[in-house]
Amino acid sequence: MAGVNNAEFCKRQKAGLVILGGFNADKEAMNAARKAVERGRREFIFEEPLEGIEREIKTIKGRKFAVNVRSSTLDGYLEVANLVESYGGILEINAHCRQPEFISAHCGEWLLFNLEELLKIVKEVSKVAITAVKIRGGHDLDYKAICEKIFKSGCRIVHLDAMIPNADCDFELIKRVSQLGFVIGNNSFVDLATGEKMILSGAKMASAARAVLKDPCFFEKMLKSDILSQPVELEL
Ligand SMILES: Cc1cc2nc3c(=O)[nH]c(=O)nc-3n(C[C@H](O)[C@H](O)[C@H](O)COP(=O)(O)O)c2cc1C
Repeated sequence: MAGVNNAEFCKRQKAGLVILGGFNADKEAMNAARKAVERGRREFIFEEPLEGIEREIKTIKGRKFAVNVRSSTLDGYLEVANLVESYGGILEINAHCRQPEFISAHCGEWLLFNLEELLKIVKEVSKVAITAVKIRGGHDLDYKAICEKIFKSGCRIVHLDAMIPNADCDFELIKRVSQLGFVIGNNSFVDLATGEKMILSGAKMASAARAVLKDPCFFEKMLKSDILSQPVELEL
């Protein structure tokens, strides 16, 4: 959650994996963030993006972590990937954000609709770090074919916001994509039942954003479920 999920916030969450950010890796992505802030959105603004990201990583040290990144250039992803890898983390490419400032800067969901660009980035970043790609459902796209290509390009984790516009979670989509590889299921995980349904649909992990804003003890409560507290391993 941009502007929310920094290391201090994540440290308080009893989650198996915390995903910092989204952070902006290069000048254009940072300018997009500044414009988004001007119209009232929350974003992390660092004068020196890499230094800011490293400070956050150092603060979360000791936890399993990923860093959600937007960049308008391959170099931006690679710089953060090198950094994240040196601290044992996962680089999550944000192909999910749909705010117009980021789309104009060829970040976020622009990548989902420009798949060749996304695959190029995945291929290069995966040579450096364990790579996740965050995408959003709800579009008229062949998600299975897209995710197959993303995994084939070296991505190890698809973080799937299985949103259905004006509705809850598309568990069928989670089921289809989970057949291909390691999926973190996301969207409308708000209680034990929705989290368990995510895992029973094939996701290896379930992630939550808005529910944590409402209840700071959300994950602690979810760990009461045998299904949601099972250990999970990413095979290397
Ligand atoms: C305040 C806020 C900021 C968000 N920022 C990001 C972001 O920077 N990167 C990202 O991939 N998703 C971002 N998201 C999306 C969430 O991570 C999540 O995919 C979405 O809210 C659906 O999950 P939920 O139903 O658990 O909230 C943000 C969501 C919220 C509410």
